[in-house]
Formats: sequence, structure tokens, C-alpha cells
Amino acid sequence: MKMKRILTGDRPTGPLHLGHYVGSLQNRVKLQHEYDTYIIVADIQTLSTNFDNPENLSMDVRRVTLDNLAVGLDPDVARIFVQSMVPQIAELTVIFSMLITVNRLKHNPTIKTEAGQYGFEENMTYGFLGYPVSQAADILFCRADLVPVGDDQLPVVEVSRFIARRFNELYGEVFTEPRSLCGNTPRLVGLDGRAKMSKSLKNCIYLSDSPDEVRSKVMSAVTDPARIHKDDPGHPEVCTIFSYHKAFNGDEVQNIAERCRAGTVGCVACKKRMVEVINALLDPVRERRALFDRSGMVEEILMEGTRHARDEGRKTMEKVREAVHMDYFRLDG
Ligand code: TRP
Repeated sequence: MKMKRILTGDRPTGPLHLGHYVGSLQNRVKLQHEYDTYIIVADIQTLSTNFDNPENLSMDVRRVTLDNLAVGLDPDVARIFVQSMVPQIAELTVIFSMLITVNRLKHNPTIKTEAGQYGFEENMTYGFLGYPVSQAADILFCRADLVPVGDDQLPVVEVSRFIARRFNELYGEVFTEPRSLCGNTPRLVGLDGRAKMSKSLKNCIYLSDSPDEVRSKVMSAVTDPARIHKDDPGHPEVCTIFSYHKAFNGDEVQNIAERCRAGTVGCVACKKRMVEVINALLDPVRERRALFDRSGMVEEILMEGTRHARDEGRKTMEKVREAVHMDYFRLDG
């Protein structure tokens, strides 16, 4: 039986952090051995919000690729590729844009939330409104079966399903309707106690942070505000550091909760333990990063992945052109 295919990826907008690790990277590393895996570095999608500062793109494409490799994506198994280097994705985006109304996109919950975050409510570009359409092309150009994403992306994947269905109804079965695959890990809170790690809030631990950076970030993280003295009884359920123990330190979490409630472990000791846990998690990531971070290596991997992606794109476009009656002739080159 043929392996099912997954496609997922990231916008290259800066280094990836532990929130990405918990929410998606960890999962894709596991899945790469069970599925034929494609990882997209979605540089065009980055332009939907950062069209006015493309100067960081090439650095960020490399950085996001390296982050993926460092957490354990194996370039011999998973294809990592650059969105803008696969022209078939752009071709498909144009055709798909005929199949969905502006109103439907305007009411998409993810578009609404993100438009609010970026201050685009009254004034969004055609490209931003349409990024779910471009994302449908990201997913469907290689006819992916499954799309592992965080829950905030579910409505966007819904658009891909809708478009695949519409296309098939109108022009005949070409696409499988992709299903989203949502990990059940709760999202990681920021170091400041806010709901989410986010680069713009500057409350993240990056996968590329050094042991000392991890130490100073963890030691200054927000804990239970009601705990003034180290033997005051604590409330682990409101503590940022405790939520990290839940995410990364399953073996000790029960014990820490009890000692925190009893006031027998102080915040400093609890944080020091967390520093060790996170550094132990990141040490192998640092090692793999050093292996891949050699001149030309990331570029080689991206070129190879992009070649495979283009091959898939060509196969898909042949079917698409035939289905929409645009297979007039072939030109070489
Ligand atoms: N929109 C995703 C994010 O912001 C990134 C992305 C682009 C993606 N294309 C994709 C995710 C295709 C899954 C499938 O994180």
C-alpha cells in the first residue's frame, strides 16, 4: 500500500520557539517515519504580512529550515522545500481563487483573528485575505492526505477541503480532500504568563537559545504572584513554570505540584530544575544544529526538497490542466 502523504510547514518570520516545538515540530518529527512527509517553508505567506520588509526572508528561510533539521526532521526522509520556488503552487492559487467567494474568506475565523492581531481589519490586502487559498495550493499541489497543524489553523485547512471538493465537483476527481491532524498538546504559555509564546511579545524560549539564555529567561519568568516567601503555599495551576513542568517534565510533575502546594519547594529551586530540563531537551537539538549548520548544507537540502516538490507539482498540474480544459499544447522549456 502507498504511504499516505502529509504536508505541513511554517512561515519564515524568525526563529522557532518551544511553543512551535510543543505545538507542531515534535509531532512532525514523529510522523515523518509513518508518512511521506513534505515540509513547506512558506515564504510567500510571510509576504502576506511582511510585504514591506522582505530583506530578512533569505536569513529566515535558512533559519526555519535549520530549526526543523535541528529538532530531528531527517532530510533523507522528509522533503523540505521553499514555497516560492515551486511555480505550480502559484499556478494553482490562481485557479483556486475562482472557486471561493470573498465573503467566505472574510468570515474565516483565522483570517478574522489574525486581521485583528495585525490591525488589518479595515484595510487588508487581497493577498492576506487570500492566504488560505494559497495555503490550499500548498497542500493540494502534492495531493497531501493529512495536514498536521495547531488548532488555530483548523479553519484555514477547512478552506483547502472546501476548494478540493469544489474543484472535484466542477471538473472531476483530481484531489483528495485533505484532513487536518491536530495534536492534543495544550499550547505553551509565554514566559510572561500570557496565553501564548509569540515572537512579537518577546516571551519565548527559542530552540536556538544557548544554555545561558535559557537560564536567564527561565529564572526571570513569572510564577504564582501570591507567593512572596519561599515557604508560602503555592498554586501550581496558575504558575508559568509549573505549566512547563507539565509540558516537559512528566516524571516529576506530580511531586513538584505537591511540594509547591505544601510550600516545601521554592520558586527558585523549581526554576533551576526547569532550566536543567529544558537544556537537556535542547542539547541534542543544539548538536544536530551544529551538524547541519555548515556552509551550503541547508541550501543543498532545500534544493533537493524543492526538486521533489516541483516534480509533484508538475504531475498535479497535468491533471489540473486536463480537468479544466487548458491542456492546449506542450512547449519544451
Ligand atoms: N499558515 C501556517 C502557519 O502560519 C504555515 C503554513 C503555510 C502551512 N502553508 C502551510 C501549514 C500548509 C500547513 C500546511 O503556521
